[in-house]
Amino acid sequence: MDVRSEGNQVRYYDKFHAPVIPRNRFRVWFIRVCLSIVLWTCLVQLMTVNELWHFNFFSGFTSRIYNTTQRPLQGDVRFAQPPPTLLPPRNYTSNGFLRVSCNGGLNQMRAAICDMVTIARLLNLTLVVPELDKKSFWADHSGFEEIFDVRHFIDSLRDEVRIVKRVPKKFSSKNGYSTLKMPPVSWSNEKYYLEQILPLFSKHKVVHFNKTDARLANNGLPIELQKLRCRVNYQALKFTPQIENLGQKLVQILRERGPFVALHLRYEMDMLAFSGCTRGCTNEEAKNLKRMRYAFPSWREKEIVSEERRSQGLCPLTPEEAALVMQALGFDRETHVYIAAGEIYGGERRLAQLRAAFPRIVKKEVLLALDELQQFQNHSSQMAALDFMVSVASDTFIPTYDGNMAKLVEGHRRYYGFKKSIVLDRKKLVQLLDLHQNGTLPWNNFADSVRQVHEKRMGQPAYRRVIVDKPKEEDYFYANPHECLCEGTKCDNLLDPHNSSQVR
Ligand SMILES: *[C@@H]1O[C@H](CO)[C@@H](O)[C@H](O)[C@H]1NC(C)=O
Ligand SMILES: *[C@@H]1O[C@H](CO)[C@@H](O)[C@H](O)[C@H]1NC(C)=O
Ligand SMILES: *[C@@H]1O[C@H](CO)[C@@H](O)[C@H](O)[C@H]1NC(C)=O
Ligand SMILES: *[C@@H]1O[C@H](CO)[C@@H](O)[C@H](O)[C@H]1NC(C)=O
Ligand SMILES: *[C@@H]1O[C@H](CO)[C@@H](O)[C@H](O)[C@H]1NC(C)=O
Ligand SMILES: *[C@@H]1O[C@H](CO)[C@@H](O)[C@H](O)[C@H]1NC(C)=O
Ligand SMILES: *[C@@H]1O[C@H](CO)[C@@H](O)[C@H](O)[C@H]1NC(C)=O
Repeated sequence: MDVRSEGNQVRYYDKFHAPVIPRNRFRVWFIRVCLSIVLWTCLVQLMTVNELWHFNFFSGFTSRIYNTTQRPLQGDVRFAQPPPTLLPPRNYTSNGFLRVSCNGGLNQMRAAICDMVTIARLLNLTLVVPELDKKSFWADHSGFEEIFDVRHFIDSLRDEVRIVKRVPKKFSSKNGYSTLKMPPVSWSNEKYYLEQILPLFSKHKVVHFNKTDARLANNGLPIELQKLRCRVNYQALKFTPQIENLGQKLVQILRERGPFVALHLRYEMDMLAFSGCTRGCTNEEAKNLKRMRYAFPSWREKEIVSEERRSQGLCPLTPEEAALVMQALGFDRETHVYIAAGEIYGGERRLAQLRAAFPRIVKKEVLLALDELQQFQNHSSQMAALDFMVSVASDTFIPTYDGNMAKLVEGHRRYYGFKKSIVLDRKKLVQLLDLHQNGTLPWNNFADSVRQVHEKRMGQPAYRRVIVDKPKEEDYFYANPHECLCEGTKCDNLLDPHNSSQVR
């Protein structure tokens, strides 16, 4: 929307400065100029309103909870990017083809794609567009191109690495080429890839990584690799226009109602079955979750004591706990809350308390017409992409579990201007919740303690830090390579795609 209006500005500006005007066309010209002035004025007005509107969003809000930084936000960068200018492709001799099959949910795969591009760059390989997991818990059959804008992905990285849609036929097994299928060793650094993986390409033209989660170390990598990883995450991975449009529509509907909180309520069946957290579930539900865990071979841990897990801070907050914590943090009944999640396990029964505390709770299913969502409905990854967009654009983001989605969204919010994310300390929270619920800790003391515990966990700009700087211990909950931490002015050109000196 902003892009188009910029185009208009340029056009009208050009007309304004048209050098010689033939007399007989003077009237037409005059009318045009008048029209241009009127349109131009409208535009400027509109933009001012738009700015004010954003201003209200990000700084005019009273509650301490919503306090964001003074750094001006460029609206939503993702919605207002200038048309991409293609950089010249990098000229290098490819050592072979890298095929990858990503595993896990949408956000785990997203993190993996960032890693795989980086590895392909490091080893001078040609990357084949990653294959997405179709056998994960929710069995979404979406391919890469049904979730991400594949053309943009290929084009925007071409100054770094060659990406192709498939391995050329001439390298097929029919022509005597063998593909080596293997999972790379988890948490490896660049030395492993240079010393162990690169030599494999002299024998096999194609290597296929059939597992991608956590295959590249988080820490101690050269900064240029970290930067590339981040560039993939923030710039090269864009959702398809269908997803972007519907996501934008959701954001617009929400914004028309006022500032909103996105609550990533990770209280979904797969999470509970996987983690073994069953607090608040009926016996029947707990049994079902356990059965599901046993049925899923890749979930190694089978016997889990829910309460033990919970006391270690390893369980997602329940919807009831989330309600109490949000109230303690000072959110009131008027707060607009968007639930960024799939189906909540236990359904409306489990949402009752949260709904009572925050009547203005909504989900995408309520905000959009049935037919708008229909094409996404059976594709959990595409639905997750919509929640991702809304979460990134929200005024306050609260994840109830620190999984991949929480980390990636927090990172994007920092990248787009450090919008507030509240990183809950679940280990301390469950202690406080238990004390409050058995009557030991009255409400006011409970609320005070909850606020105290989270004083430094609300995404203040003080936590901006360059990855290469050693984070202080209390910052470790932010230390994720896909977040591209940076500080002050260093943020401004950390990921400038036109500054090639940075990534090389
Ligand atoms: C927001 O925080 C800044 C410092 O980080 C402070 O100066 C300002 O008063 C705060 N605003 C509100 C509304 O709390
Ligand atoms: C790529 O690099 C090679 C060797 O440096 C050079 O011979 C070739 O002309 C270059 N190709 C292009 C398109 O620049
Ligand atoms: C990758 O190519 C560059 C030249 O484009 C070369 O300097 C570098 O050594 C190559 N690295 C590997 C691992 O092949
Ligand atoms: C990956 O490939 C290896 C070697 O072929 C195989 O043993 C392993 O089971 C595969 N893993 C997956 C997840 O397909
Ligand atoms: C989604 O899947 C369900 C069950 O598999 C099916 O009944 C329904 O028709 C599907 N909906 C769409 C829009 O494809
Ligand atoms: C409440 O719970 C805490 C910790 O779970 C426990 O130490 C305390 O004794 C309990 N108090 C009552 C009154 O049950
Ligand atoms: C490019 O990045 C480098 C390193 O961050 C910086 O020193 C230089 O000023 C940047 N150049 C431009 C044109 O922004």
